[in-house]
Amino acid sequence: MTLEIRPLSDTLGAEVTGLDLTQPLGEADAAAVREAFLDRHLLCFRSEPLSPADFLRIARLFGEPQLQLLRHRRHGEVPEVSMLESTYKRPEDKPDDLALVRLSGWHTDDSYFATPAKATMLQSLALPSSGGETRFCNTRRAYEMLDDSLKARIEGARAVHGYDTPRAPGRAETRTAEEAAETPDVLHPLARTHEDTGRKAIYFNPNRTDRVVGLERAESDALLDGLYSHMTADRFRYDHSWRLGDILLWDNRCLLHSVNTDFPVGEERRHQRVLLKGTKPV
Ligand code: SIN
Repeated sequence: MTLEIRPLSDTLGAEVTGLDLTQPLGEADAAAVREAFLDRHLLCFRSEPLSPADFLRIARLFGEPQLQLLRHRRHGEVPEVSMLESTYKRPEDKPDDLALVRLSGWHTDDSYFATPAKATMLQSLALPSSGGETRFCNTRRAYEMLDDSLKARIEGARAVHGYDTPRAPGRAETRTAEEAAETPDVLHPLARTHEDTGRKAIYFNPNRTDRVVGLERAESDALLDGLYSHMTADRFRYDHSWRLGDILLWDNRCLLHSVNTDFPVGEERRHQRVLLKGTKPV
């Protein structure tokens, strides 16, 4: 098999073929895949649906797994793997205003932790007949295209990230007391420097970032709203239309994601996920 890496869009993403992920990667392939990951921020490997144990083995090729906060999502035998069920089981589960569905909101995984996951690996296990794309935006490119005055405003600024924020239209799932104790509010820089590339990205999680430290609420909201409309513009976007078994690996340090939650009621949409440990954002 010959390794091939093909861009999925102008802005981010690449499809990787010709790799046998059941085996340790050779040095040259591992280096090419790492370079593509840092350059394209999202890799897609085509696969069949895998068992949680096999999926975890593949995730370990790319980093060290980290446990998901919400215990009920952890797989019983392979707790590093979370099972994500997004099916609308009953008509009343799908609101008319899809912005109220939490998954519709742009986010980067785990930013409510002091040390958020650097990357996420997600595999589709069941897909609806239409909709359900996972959408991404490139916050490194968005940072680079900010005007100089906005770049200067966010330089050195820090923001409060919490498990939930009233700024997000959809509410986060309830936590147990144990989970709440593990997720006090944390501060992260608004312009984050990627530890592997040295490049900056906007690090703002619309589902979790509540306010900018040192600004009045109205001023903070105006700054965050401005960043939001800039970074989620179509020119920074790639929407992934899933094939069954696709494995996506993406970089949470410079991408946001959200789901097109417009898919039919009663049609299963299910994924398995592994989060990979990161470092404290700087
Ligand atoms: C997530 O945002 O955590 C899951 C993404 C998806 O279901 O496509």
